[in-house]
Order: sequence, then structure tokens, then C-alpha cells
Amino acid sequence: MSSKIEAPRPRSVDRSKLSYVSTSAPKDSEVPKPRLIDRSAVEYIRPVLTVLEKNVHSPVTPGVVHFPQFKITPALEKAANKRIAQYPDDQRRSAVLPLLHEVQHRHGFISPESIEWVANKLGIAAIKVVEVVTFYPGFRQKAPGKLHFRVCRTLSCAMGGSYELMAKLCEITGIDRSSADTHKDPISISPCGSYSVEYAECLASCGTAPVCLVNDDFHEGVTPEKAESLITQYES
Ligand code: FES
Repeated sequence: MSSKIEAPRPRSVDRSKLSYVSTSAPKDSEVPKPRLIDRSAVEYIRPVLTVLEKNVHSPVTPGVVHFPQFKITPALEKAANKRIAQYPDDQRRSAVLPLLHEVQHRHGFISPESIEWVANKLGIAAIKVVEVVTFYPGFRQKAPGKLHFRVCRTLSCAMGGSYELMAKLCEITGIDRSSADTHKDPISISPCGSYSVEYAECLASCGTAPVCLVNDDFHEGVTPEKAESLITQYES
């Protein structure tokens, strides 16, 4: 038995009531106009810092008055060449430490200009010299005072009173160590530029603690009570 299925009739639509979504481009009035820029007033940020700008921090300190500004002099060239000659020609980069000592001894600290000079002398990249300077705490990146104290603060010296010695040195010389940062900015300098202090790690004389270096001189058994006479002996 067959049955008939009636197909649904198409609905009639009132087209006047339909709202269309437009696919065409927006009207001109809706498009934001590009802003006019006065290019002469634009300040560009330097995209790349050089190795030295990024890694060497040499702010001017009151201590600069005691050291001549870095300059390539015949005397410096002669001293450097003598050091370099102590190494085989293809190993001249091994002279990096002696050259940095030459610079620091004459100018008080290792400036970005001196790093560039050392790198050129040895034919190596400046970053290689920066690596050495930042690895050894003995190399400074800013001018210290005329008298620079390095106070050992490792265990024996700490127990022997090195923290008290540091406090005493700061009190006598007028040094403010409140903003000192052991890693980034370890040296604190007096406003007059004559004195500076920093902590050092074990100076290899634990049996005579507390010990400290004044410039390149080694002093043992420097208790806080001896701080004043230690300074006086360099001033007389
Ligand atoms: S702990 Fe100061 S010299 Fe060793």
C-alpha cells in the first residue's frame, strides 16, 4: 500500500523586514586616518648597547682627583710591550692580567677605554677582557680613594672583629656604606675622595685575624681599636 508524502510549502518571506549584515568595506568616515608624526621630534632609543656600555660601570667618583685619567702614553705602551714579550707570540692573550694590573696601578681602576686598549693590544674581543675584570674582585671599575682599605670578612676575620673594624673605618673617614652592594658596587668612598673601603674574602692569613689591605700593603691583627693609628700611619 503506497502513501503520499506532502512536501512542505516554501514559506513566504516579508523582505521589507529583513536586516542584512554588510560584507562591503566600511564607509570612508569610519576608517581612522593615519596620524601625522613630526619625525624631527621623535627620540629614538638606541637599539644595541655595546659590550662595554652594558658590562662596565665606571661612574665618576670623588677619588678621580687622585688618579690620572687613562691615556695611552709611551711609558704605558713600553710597559705593556715588555709584559706581552714574556709570552709566546700566539699566546699573547695570556698577558691580559699583567696588562690590567699595569692599568690599575697607574690609573686606579679599569675604565671602558682601558679595556678597549688592552683588547686591541692583545688582539682579542673586548668582552674577553671584561670577563677577566668582572671575575676578579681585585680589579675595580671605578676610582677608589687615595687610601683604599680591603677588609677581610671571611670566618676567622669576621669572628675576630672585621665587621667592627669596617664600622670604625667608616666612622673615622666619614664613609656611608648604606648603599654598598657586595656584588654590583662593593666600593664605598668618602666625600673627600681620600678614603675608600670594601670587603674582601679570605686574604690567606686567618691565624692573624682580623686582616686588611691598605692599597697594596698587608696588615695583620687590625682590631677596631687600631683603625685610627692605621690611618694615621699613612697620613704622616
Ligand atoms: S679569614 Fe681573613 S684571612 Fe682568612
